[in-house]
Parts: sequence; structure tokens; C-alpha cells
Amino acid sequence: MSALFQPFELKDVTLRNRVAVPPMCQYSAVDGFTNEWHWVHYPAIARGGAGLVIVEATGVSPEGRITPGCTGLWDDAQVDGMARIAASIKAAGSVPGIQIGHAGRKASANKPWEGDDHIPDGAPGAWQTIAPSAIAFGGGLPKVPKAMTIADIERVRADFVAAARRARDAGFEWLELHFAHGYLGQSFFNPQSNQRTDQYGGDFQGRSRFLLETLDAVRDVWPENLPLTARFGVVEYDGHDDQILPESIELAKAFRRGGLDMLSVSVGFSTMGGDIPWGTPFLGPIAERVRREAELPVASAWGLDDPAVAEGLVADKQMDLVMIGRAHLANPHYTYALAQALGEKDPDWILPAPYAHWLSRYSGAGKRAEV
Ligand SMILES: Cc1cc2nc3c(=O)[nH]c(=O)nc-3n(C[C@H](O)[C@H](O)[C@H](O)COP(=O)(O)O)c2cc1C
Repeated sequence: MSALFQPFELKDVTLRNRVAVPPMCQYSAVDGFTNEWHWVHYPAIARGGAGLVIVEATGVSPEGRITPGCTGLWDDAQVDGMARIAASIKAAGSVPGIQIGHAGRKASANKPWEGDDHIPDGAPGAWQTIAPSAIAFGGGLPKVPKAMTIADIERVRADFVAAARRARDAGFEWLELHFAHGYLGQSFFNPQSNQRTDQYGGDFQGRSRFLLETLDAVRDVWPENLPLTARFGVVEYDGHDDQILPESIELAKAFRRGGLDMLSVSVGFSTMGGDIPWGTPFLGPIAERVRREAELPVASAWGLDDPAVAEGLVADKQMDLVMIGRAHLANPHYTYALAQALGEKDPDWILPAPYAHWLSRYSGAGKRAEV
């Protein structure tokens, strides 16, 4: 059996393999509510065989959505639709996860295919953005956010807690806090976006405070036996990683002490200046370093869909889970394709019986899934 197709245990949850589908916004919700799009999309991918399917970045408040099409969990009425998704992922044999977050100064944006830029202030559908400091991201996201007051910080923390409780009520078994990608959590940590002079800014401790307090508050309501994870950008590639990477590893250690069970290692995307070395499994050695030094299980993503690459990352213990995103949009059964490519025994039985039974008896051309 390949390393990628070994089961993985975290707390009381067992993933059937090390392939995880990372959160991918569908920008198809209305007022934060899920609909037929999500109810078909998520189980279709889960049926493809991945061990874990994480539902897209879901706003903890209306203002915390990236776009008007983002899903939300700020209202009890949103739980039913999410429960449908969680149940359908589980019925397909995957573990249902969800990412909750607040987009901070990158919120109030148009959907990617409608511009991917800020909805101008005053235009229909726009809203006031908030952030640690009143500093715009820039480029297509030029709006200057309101600097958060202490009351704002407390409110957002409470929003995370309430959303986590709703995620639990919806039946999710894996919770990921979105602290990455230049959104609110990441922008508290980054010294360029956080120029506060109070206890939530300044030195490493100050810039970590919002993230650690939020983790602590969520830990209180998220079941102890289920994984609580976070996605965080440990590198920026903007010339400041001599500071960012070691500090991020210290933060990962503090996350572990605070009850985090796994870190999804990503890029910060905090500034416009990032020059990211796309095209290789560039985060492999970085994820491995975080895993070793912070003594935390890690997952990572970005271009890891080649079967030999994905297998090597797990076999070499650089990552515990390999996140594969876009390849699953192209082919929801991509995990099945990986199993075939890696020579797994009876790969057809990665799929549910109504598919596997027939495929296992058929060896004709066209059966092979594409990697
Ligand atoms: C359509 C789309 C939506 C995404 N939405 C999210 C998201 O909600 N949360 C997140 O942390 N990353 C998001 N990402 C990043 C993915 O989780 C993943 O890191 C990225 O696609 C790279 O992995 P890949 O090369 O296997 O696709 C998104 C990516 C895509 C393509």
C-alpha cells in the first residue's frame, strides 16, 4: 500500500487516506446560505475517495465574507443546509470538515469571475471592511479598512465561537480556522498590516494575541475529541521571511500548547510584494520544518497533485496530509485516479459500491481515470 493511502488518525477521527480536499470557495451562496450547487458539489467530490473534504471559507459574520457569494454560519438558519453537506460527505466515506473565517481588509470583493476586486464603497452590495489597522491591501483591493476597536475584536472572537458551535451542530467533524491568506487572522500577525500600538500589535506576542485568543475561545466549544486545526501562511516571499518564518514556527508551537491539533501550512499573501515560487512542491520542506520544530501534524497544498509528488511528501514525512484542490474540480474522482496511478490494490473500491462494483468487473479502455 502506498503511504498516501494509509489511514490517518487525529483525535477520534480516522481518515481513510492522506488525500484531503482543501477549502475552495464556490462563490455560489446567497446571503450566506448554501443551495443545490453546494449540496451536489461536495458529495460528488467526497465520492471520489478523499479522506477529508473541507468545506469552503465560511464567514463568521456577513462582514467576514470575502464576496457576497460566500457561505456563512452567522445565523442558526444556515445550519440545516450545512448539515446536509456534512451528512452527504460522511455518507460517501469522507470526513466532513469546514473552514470558518473572517476576510478582514480583503472582504467586500466581487466574485472572481466578476472582477475579483473590491466592490467600491457606496456601490450596491459593498460593506465596510475591518482590520487590525486602517491600511489598505492595495492593487484591486484598495479600500481602507476601519481599524478594529477592542469591542470589535471581542465581537469577532465571539462570532468565531458561535460559528464553531453551529459547525458542530451541523455535524462537521473537523474544524479549520482560516488564519491564512491575508485575511483577518493573518493580517493581525503580519507586521506590515498590523501597526497597532495596543496589546494586539507590536511584538510577536501582541501580533499573536488575536489568533491565540480566538483559538482558545473556540477550543472551549469545539468537542475535545474532534480535530481543531488552522490554516496559516508561514512564509510571504516578500523579503521579510527571515522574520516571518521563525516567528510563524513559534506561533505554531503556541497553537499546539493552545490545543491545536494540526496546522495547514500555507503562504501568507499578506502583501502585494509576494514573489511565490510556483511550479514545484515548494512548501514541502517548509511544512516539514514546521512539523519537526513545532511538533505538530501538518498538511499543505499548492500544486501537489502529481501522484509521485503526493506520495513522496507523505512517504518522506514532510506532510501528514496532502491537500489537492483544483485537480478535484477538474475530476471529482481524482483521488481514485491517484489510487490507480500508485498501483493501489482494488482501486475501484476507493469509490462507493454503486460505482465500484461495475468498474471492478470492467477492464475496457476508458475505465482508467486521468491524472
Ligand atoms: C476556486 C478556489 C477557491 C479557494 N478557496 C479557498 C478557501 O475557501 N480557503 C482557503 O484556505 N483556500 C482556498 N483556496 C486555495 C486552495 O485551498 C488551495 O490551497 C489551492 O487551490 C492550491 O491547491 P491546488 O494546487 O491543489 O489547487 C481556493 C482555491 C481555489 C482554486
